[in-house]
Order: sequence, then C-alpha cells, then structure tokens
Amino acid sequence: MHATIRILLYCLLVQTAYAHETTSPSPPPLRTADAYTQPVDGLLADTKALSAFQAGRTLFRQVWTIPGGEDSRFSGLGPLYNRFSCVACHPGNGRGFAPDGPHQSMKAMLVRLSVAVPQHGNLPHPVYGDQLNEFGIPGLAGEGIAQIDYDPVSITFADGEVMTLRRPTLRFSELAYGPLGQIQTSPRIAPAVFGLAVLASISDEDILRQTQRRKPAGIAGRPNRVWDIAQQKTVIGKFGWKANVPNLRQQIASAFHGDLSITSSLFPQENCTPQQAICLSQASQLPELTDQQLDDIQFYLRALAVPPPASPTAQINRGAALFKRAQCIECHTDQLRTSQAIRASSHTPYTDLLLHDMGDGLADHRPDFLANGREWRTPPLWGIGLAKTVHANAGFLHDGRARDLQEAILWHGGEADSARERFMRLNKEDRAALLQFLESL
Ligand code: HEC
Ligand code: HEC
Repeated sequence: MHATIRILLYCLLVQTAYAHETTSPSPPPLRTADAYTQPVDGLLADTKALSAFQAGRTLFRQVWTIPGGEDSRFSGLGPLYNRFSCVACHPGNGRGFAPDGPHQSMKAMLVRLSVAVPQHGNLPHPVYGDQLNEFGIPGLAGEGIAQIDYDPVSITFADGEVMTLRRPTLRFSELAYGPLGQIQTSPRIAPAVFGLAVLASISDEDILRQTQRRKPAGIAGRPNRVWDIAQQKTVIGKFGWKANVPNLRQQIASAFHGDLSITSSLFPQENCTPQQAICLSQASQLPELTDQQLDDIQFYLRALAVPPPASPTAQINRGAALFKRAQCIECHTDQLRTSQAIRASSHTPYTDLLLHDMGDGLADHRPDFLANGREWRTPPLWGIGLAKTVHANAGFLHDGRARDLQEAILWHGGEADSARERFMRLNKEDRAALLQFLESL
C-alpha cells in the first residue's frame, strides 16, 4: 500500500475511534442490585479464569447439605452451624442486617463468644466455643438463640431537629448446654465482600504509614496483630470488624468452619468443643472443603469489582468537602490511594484499616487479639451508597444497629467524637450534602 494512503487511512481510523469515544455515551454505570457481583474489567479474559470465577460463585451461593448428601462436593454442613450458605448472610455479596426486635431471628449476623481467663487473656467459651451456632443437624439441637432488644435514644441536632436511634441489648434463650455464665459477646453483621483483593494488596508499610500521618488531636489509630495459621506467625490483621483476620484465604476457611461447620486444610478439626459429645461423635474425618474449592472461592472473591461511584453533582462535591471538614477523612482516609494496586483500580476504599476507639456507645467489651472492647477497624466506605439497592434491609455498623448512614454517623464516639459533633452542627442542607456524598460512593 502507498505510504500516503496508509497514513490517510490511519488518520481516518484514529479519527473515527476518537469520534466514537467522544460522541457515544460510555456504558451506563452499574449501580443496580447486581452491583457487588461484577468481576473486575478484563479479568475473565481466558476460559480458565472464567471457570474458576463460576466455580467460586457456585460455592458462595451453594446451599450446603449435611455429610452424605446427594452431591458430595457440597456436603459437610454441621454438626453445629449458623446458615446453609455464604450468601445467606452476605445477600447479593452485600452486608447483612440485624433483626428488628426480639421477635425476629438473626438472619445475616452472628454472635462471637469468649471468656476472660486470668493470666490467659480471652479464650473461646469452654462449652459453646467462640461463636454461637443456632442450628444443629437432625438429632442435635442448636446451641441456643440470640435475640436483640432495642431502647430508643433521642438525638438533637444543633438546628433543633430530633432523631431517634436504637440501642441494642443482646440476650440468649433455649441454651442447649446450660447457662453461658460470665461471658464476653460480640454481635456482628456480615460485611460486603467486594474489593477485597485491593484491601489484601495493601502492604504492611502502607498501613503502618497511616499510624504516622499527622491527625487532629484525639484521633489515633493502630493496626491489629493477629495469628496467621498458614504462616504460623503474628501479622497485621486486615479483615473482619476488628481487623481480626490476617488474609482472605483464612477468612474464607474460618467462615466455612465457624458459620457452616465445614472443615478445610486450614481448619481440619470439626467445630465442636470437647464438652459437646454428640457434636464430636458426628465429626467427619477428611477436610470437607478441598483446597481446589478454597482456591476457587478465593479467586471469585478476589475478582469482585468495586462498583463505580455515581457521577458527581454540585451537591455531591459539596458533601465531599464537608466530609473532609468534619474530619471523617482522618480515618476514612483517601491516602491509601498511594498504593499502586489502588491507583490502578481508580477507587479509594476510604479506610486506614486501623483500629480506633469508638467510645462506650459502640463498645462490645470483647477484646479480639490486640483490639480492645472499644476498638473497631475503620470500615471501607466504597460502594456503601448501594447497600440498600443490593439489599433493602442492609444494616450499618458492626451490629447493624444503624438503619441508615446518618444513624451510623450519630453513633460515632471516642476518637470520632469531634467528627460527630461537627456533623451535628451542620445545617440540614449540609447534612444532606454529606449524606449524598456517601450515597454516591
Ligand atoms: C452467619 C452469617 C455469616 C455466614 C453464613 C457467612 N458469613 Fe462471612 N462474615 C460474617 C460476619 C459477621 C463477618 C465479620 C466477621 C468478624 O468481624 O469477625 C464476615 C466476614 C466475612 C469476610 C470478610 C469481609 C471483610 O471485609 O472483612 C469474608 C471474605 C467472608 N465473610 C466470606 C464468607 C464466606 C466465604 C462464607 C461462606 C463460607 C461466609 N462468609 C459465610 C457473617 C457470615
Ligand atoms: C476516629 C476514626 C473515625 C472518624 C473520624 C469517623 N469514622 Fe466513621 N467509622 C469509624 C469506625 C471505626 C467505624 C465502625 C464502627 C462500628 O462498626 O462500630 C465507622 C463506621 C462508619 C460508617 C458505617 C460503615 C459500615 O460499614 O457500616 C459510616 C457510614 C461512617 N463511619 C461515616 C463517617 C462519617 C460521615 C464521618 C464524619 C462525620 C466519620 N465516619 C468519622 C471510624 C471513624
């Protein structure tokens, strides 16, 4: 082909491509009920990746059956368990929620248990273990039922508007192994499970750098340090409401173990305490989850993309500025963006992954590794505006007491006391703008 024609053709091609880019609308941003189920762009290009993704998705959505079930790939549930599937607590890969009162059961949350033993710190409850399992396989009663009662708490904004929050109290009934005695409890709703590969990729140095960042008086933050089973050593914790789990693989295996009582190479012992004789007699020998299945579910969760934020409006931009001014950004930081993996994903998680003292109102009084009873990990805020699009009942804060984003802010205390006060001093229009910014994430 003649050189000039070639150049002309090239220009034409570039021009059409450019025209296409500027005139045709970009694909509609995915902000629907499926928002948390989408793979990262381009990740499933080859068939191997696609089949791992599909296999992992099946495992996450699968209703597991008790050992000896029709399909051996998906059996091993129990003896004592909370739910039949992962997705039951993480609906649409999103967050769980708390019951509306003592008449409702816990559908998408669980209660952690422990006892304080002098000289030994906090240990799992000697009879009930470290989590209340409400159900048992046929012939074995569940451990008991956890219920939540609420008391109203009135809050008055600086401009006179009044709001009513609900303060939860936990109680137990139908306890199968006798009274719980002096225990520590921690009710927790399931968090959303997208964007976890990005959180996993954040280096220890980046997390430690967050502790050194200059912050306003009263705000600190420190990492949790937790036991990594595979490495057999203590490392910085990243997952869970108290950053109580070191990595995604251990988180997945511990969910299979603690919530469904399905054993794996990381948790080979059945989830029964020495005092639960029937549970022990039903224990299976082999790991019920294969390493391949663990790989697949890990691949699936790592592949889940963070939904794109809504397009900014004047109100959203104003809300973003107020988010900074009210000091929210000090913990829900955008500084972790400096890590390469996050820059590539073009989203900021709005978390420092550090523990903060959140005051008495939110305290569970149950230490978890280094985290004390008042400390919680700053949860990521990305995608939070879609929580109720994904599941209408979605709850906020560790125990789901907050029914919406504003309630979540109003419970902030301790290191976040001043941030909450700044929010409460805003006028109605500015409060709405700040909330609109959160809704846009
Ligand atoms: C009974 C409800 C329940 C079930 C069933 C459940 N989860 Fe969870 N999930 C939770 C809760 C509660 C947490 C937070 C745990 C904590 O703070 O210690 C969590 C945390 C997680 C996290 C970490 C998220 C983060 O950002 O820290 C992942 C990943 C996860 N679960 C995966 C799974 C998988 C895989 C299954 C199925 C094997 C599963 N979950 C089943 C309630 C549940
Ligand atoms: C001192 C650190 C800190 C500051 C400052 C702070 N937060 Fe938080 N935020 C947290 C922690 C820790 C939690 C989790 C508390 C819990 O679950 O009990 C949280 C929870 C939330 C949640 C609920 C998240 C979820 O997944 O349920 C929202 C929304 C939120 N914060 C918004 C804000 C806003 C808006 C501000 C500013 C007015 C703010 N935060 C200031 C640390 C902070």
